[in-house]
Amino acid sequence: MKVVVIGAQWGDEGKGQIVDYLANEAQIIVRYAGGANAGHTIVTGGEEYALHLIPSGIFYPDKIVILGAGMVIDPVALFSELKMLQDRGIDTTGRVFISDRAHIVLPRYIQIDKDRDAARKKPIGTTGRGIGITYSMKSDRDGIRMADLTWREKMDELEKGDREFLAPYIDRLLSMSIDLSLYLVHRKNSQVLFEGAQGALLDLDLGTYPYVSSGMSCAAGAAVGGCVGPRAIDKVLGVFKAYSTRVGNGPLPSEFDPGSEDELCRFVRDTGREYGVTTGRPRRCGYLDLVSLRYACLTNSIDSLVMTHLDVYDTLDEIKACVSYRIGDRIVENFPASIADLNAAKPVLRSFPGWKKSLASALTYEEFPEAAMEYIEFIERFCETPIDIVSVGYDRKATIIRKSPWTR
Ligand code: IMP
Repeated sequence: MKVVVIGAQWGDEGKGQIVDYLANEAQIIVRYAGGANAGHTIVTGGEEYALHLIPSGIFYPDKIVILGAGMVIDPVALFSELKMLQDRGIDTTGRVFISDRAHIVLPRYIQIDKDRDAARKKPIGTTGRGIGITYSMKSDRDGIRMADLTWREKMDELEKGDREFLAPYIDRLLSMSIDLSLYLVHRKNSQVLFEGAQGALLDLDLGTYPYVSSGMSCAAGAAVGGCVGPRAIDKVLGVFKAYSTRVGNGPLPSEFDPGSEDELCRFVRDTGREYGVTTGRPRRCGYLDLVSLRYACLTNSIDSLVMTHLDVYDTLDEIKACVSYRIGDRIVENFPASIADLNAAKPVLRSFPGWKKSLASALTYEEFPEAAMEYIEFIERFCETPIDIVSVGYDRKATIIRKSPWTR
């Protein structure tokens, strides 16, 4: 079976933790998009790890992890992450592979990324990891793929600085390089987990363009970046937080009002630890935006949802979620493409009673307070998608499974 896990918001939904949990039953974990712009926090064995490139399944000693064709690989970041894992006792030998079609990030792309964003009238607020530049070199057909490292003519044509940068990495990169498509064909009966990065609303085509990342972070990206056809995918899981966050610029229609709701914003940010793993930037926070979540479900064929960070709301008297937008004098129920509309959108909020109780002790969904169930079941009806997993803490034990993700 092949299962895709994507972020259903603007990234940082807690995918790393969920993938880490689901990887238990997979043999192979493939990350299919983005690069070192991503930041996944995983807590395992009482230790906290931050990963940027390596799929979260690495913490299981018997799992194979693969960096897919849709990814852009910064060799400096990759080898420092592998070293960090080895230094902390995680043996990665012979378990990390890279698609021979993945593109390579060069240091000068990183500088161009930073300079270009700083020069923009309205910066996107990129992570400064050279991601957009590497993808544009790819679309311009000037990129360097893993497979190109063995193509003498191409290597000879590179600028001296690029050649010198790559030279010490070539052998190590090639030792990890595989034909991903064939690799998966030869393991037809394996359970494969495709791990998304960023989120549905940061996808280059389906997201809030131009305030997006440059890879295919949508579910369809799993097929392209994972080197399988779309019909090979059996199931898509969409991970979302009980509220909304975003790092960088761009519309966040349900953002807490910076004036009147400062306190709520601070509370959510601190309780949910809403600071970027890659850049340390405080994340912008807001109410759960059901308009965009429903859009993410529709455009990504999400079969079931995974809700995270629900425990952040444990102490609140009242919880609100955005169910439509007011744009001028219109009420809009569907997620608009226009950035002007999204910037002008004011959230129409629906209120729910809080449960005023810690969810941490619940071992099954049935043990949740009724008010928490009400909030969950409203979201299911609104998005016409079941919520099969609810996470109420960072530990593996804090993940409540209502229906196994490894069933169709
Ligand atoms: P880039 O991917 O560095 O080009 O950044 C483009 C936009 O996507 C910026 O707003 C980033 O903050 C955002 N972004 C990129 N990767 C992530 C992620 O993993 N989580 C959240 N936001 C991200």
